[in-house]
Amino acid sequence: MSENKVTLNDQTTGKSIELPVLKGSQGDPTLDIKNLHKETGYFTYDPGFAQTAACSSAITFIDGNKGVLQYRGYPIEQLAENSNFLEVAYLLLNGNLPNTSEMADFDHDITYHSMVHEKLNNFMSGFHYDAHPMAMMSGAVGSLAAFYHDRLDPEDPNQRELAAKRMIAKMPTIAAICYRHHRGLPNAYPKNNLGFTERFLDTMFSVPAEPYEVNPVAAKALDLLFILHADHEQNASTSTVRLVGSTGANPYACIAAGIAALWGPAHGGANESVLKMLDEIGSVDNIPKYIAKAKDRNDPFRLMGFGHRVYKNFDPRASIIRKACHDVLNELNITDPQLDLAMELEEIALRDEFFVERKLYPNVDFYSGIIYKALGIPVSMFTVMFAIARTVGWAAQWLEMREDPGKIGRPRQIYTGETTRDYLKMDQR
Ligand code: CMC
Repeated sequence: MSENKVTLNDQTTGKSIELPVLKGSQGDPTLDIKNLHKETGYFTYDPGFAQTAACSSAITFIDGNKGVLQYRGYPIEQLAENSNFLEVAYLLLNGNLPNTSEMADFDHDITYHSMVHEKLNNFMSGFHYDAHPMAMMSGAVGSLAAFYHDRLDPEDPNQRELAAKRMIAKMPTIAAICYRHHRGLPNAYPKNNLGFTERFLDTMFSVPAEPYEVNPVAAKALDLLFILHADHEQNASTSTVRLVGSTGANPYACIAAGIAALWGPAHGGANESVLKMLDEIGSVDNIPKYIAKAKDRNDPFRLMGFGHRVYKNFDPRASIIRKACHDVLNELNITDPQLDLAMELEEIALRDEFFVERKLYPNVDFYSGIIYKALGIPVSMFTVMFAIARTVGWAAQWLEMREDPGKIGRPRQIYTGETTRDYLKMDQR
């Protein structure tokens, strides 16, 4: 990182301080304020960390104004066109695309870690039949620490790598168990002769009574969604994983925390909320009413699947998914009135001054739910699909952080409560 300096003048004290300017390989320059408090007595105030780089990372690059997303330097469009999810997983974890034997070894490792301990099935069967799958999933992943308590050392690179592979491999199996528990289906064991995404579809949908053929159109579409959701630099769930990781917590605890953060409707839960919203809107005639609600500052309603903290022109994942959505529905011969509704809503919102002014565009999750639905995945499982993919990003970011853990994450605050006062005995209050 190159270093320039910016001088900050404090007009109250007449003192000045030089702040180093850090520059990564791409992206905006960043002021280094590490020593600000020590030298000036000031903290900085940045609600939602919107202006704060909490780490340096070589994994994912986003230029929100230009709509650029790159994994390890490769544009998302090229990966979506040419790669597959497992190869992208290798890339995110290791920094480079694999050669043939590296890919074969990685595939073998992930495949052979895809089964879960039989006792985990017992644990999962204790959930109520209508438990939300994200609740089951965060519980199940946290519980993996109890199954692998002899391989939890975040200081040991071999144990770290093993934990990352175990989580990536087992997440689809756990997701399928969540789904099957709700449906009352017996669990299906993952099949080693299938690829990552095909294996997941088989583990989800096969039944013992008859053979199950994975539909290649469905597998390709889901694999694409997994690629697009695999990582997104320091978003809320990834920052959660890093924050928990900075305490030295075990990897399963870190990823379980990431799953909990992802569940929120402002983050990964948005895909579920989009379909619920489209259901609520019901027909094209009702769109103006809902657009008005979204614009009303006294109404908490927001257009789900619209807006992004970082993308202020377009979300490149949304452009890819929009096209994929049409292709998948065509190839599977499905007509979905919700797709027509979504397109109309998108068009009306994109012409509305409120959305234009605030640079609110459809994000990755505006269309992903319609594809999941076409693949027979129920709405309550949408965020679980996101979690399967993002486990790769969380694992890559956790591994990167553990290479050079630095300080425990610990933001500051502006205290606005009572100033010092004396305790009064009960009869004096
Ligand atoms: N509908 C209506 N108004 C909105 C929306 C929306 N979806 N998103 C933002 N705004 C308004 C917001 O009220 C604010 O208006 P004003 O300036 O008048 O107060 C302005 O736009 C700026 O919004 P913000 O809340 O400051 O933006 P943010 O960067 O903090 O929030 C966001 C980003 C994604 C949380 C937000 O846009 C949102 O809640 N969107 C809907 C949920 C969603 O689709 N989330 C998925 C994100 S992509 C998947 C992922 O990475 O997890």
